[in-house]
Amino acid sequence: MPIPARSVERAGVSILVFGDAGSAGRAAALRIQSTIHAAVAERGRAVLGLATGATPQKVYAHLVALHHDGELSFRDVVTYNLDEFYPIGPLDPKSYRSYMHRHLFSHVDLAPNHAHLLDGTVPERFVAEHCAGFDRWIAADGGLDLQLLGIGRNGHIGFNEPSALSVAEALALPTRLVELHPVTRSDAARDFGGVDQVIPRALTLGVAPILAARSILMLATGPHKADSVARALGGPMTAGLPASLLQSAAARVTWMLDEPAAAGLF
Ligand code: F6R
Repeated sequence: MPIPARSVERAGVSILVFGDAGSAGRAAALRIQSTIHAAVAERGRAVLGLATGATPQKVYAHLVALHHDGELSFRDVVTYNLDEFYPIGPLDPKSYRSYMHRHLFSHVDLAPNHAHLLDGTVPERFVAEHCAGFDRWIAADGGLDLQLLGIGRNGHIGFNEPSALSVAEALALPTRLVELHPVTRSDAARDFGGVDQVIPRALTLGVAPILAARSILMLATGPHKADSVARALGGPMTAGLPASLLQSAAARVTWMLDEPAAAGLF
């Protein structure tokens, strides 16, 4: 694994800071590889929770390279993605289903029926049932061995957006249909060709199933993440900054950062 420039523990949370985003992404990929190998050796399969967005693209590129080098197989891997726009068709290039196909699924030996995403085509009256089913499938697969996360500039995890809920209510949030926060919509504008074009709702894995993962790997890179990273790690737990809720699972969480994203920490 690339050597972190700094490795610190804050209130039981492990924080690894790397010299650049590429090294952080490579370290995240190697952590995922070792999690897959350990889970497959122990239980015959590995269950991964995956994220989309700009940050994990480097991680997927490394995982694909490991696969091509014969050092990683996805034969015994099952995946669940964090979120999907709603409504959206799977073949829409802006769907997270097609993102996953482009960056990972089409390049590795993951069986198509092992790759689960929330379905942006489910009729709205069945959405609650679909979301509850997704949580049950994860549980039936034995729970997530590792959940990969990114952080929004507003501190969201998945599409669990900032809210005025109590901490207890936020910790209990299940998988569900949500309205996207204005910061999330403006960050998605580049992919949708304008903020008015962004699909304003999404399906997201809830805070509760995210926190239930056996390990959580948060990857954040770039100066635009420094503020939300510093508040998530150094501030109080609050539903106003959902990533701060990871403090409730501190011992199972690793933050991998580059120097710019860690700038507010030291
Ligand atoms: C994506 C997701 C989001 C992103 C976050 C950071 O599946 O759930 O929470 O991880 O918005 O996005 P990027 O990496 O594009 O900055």
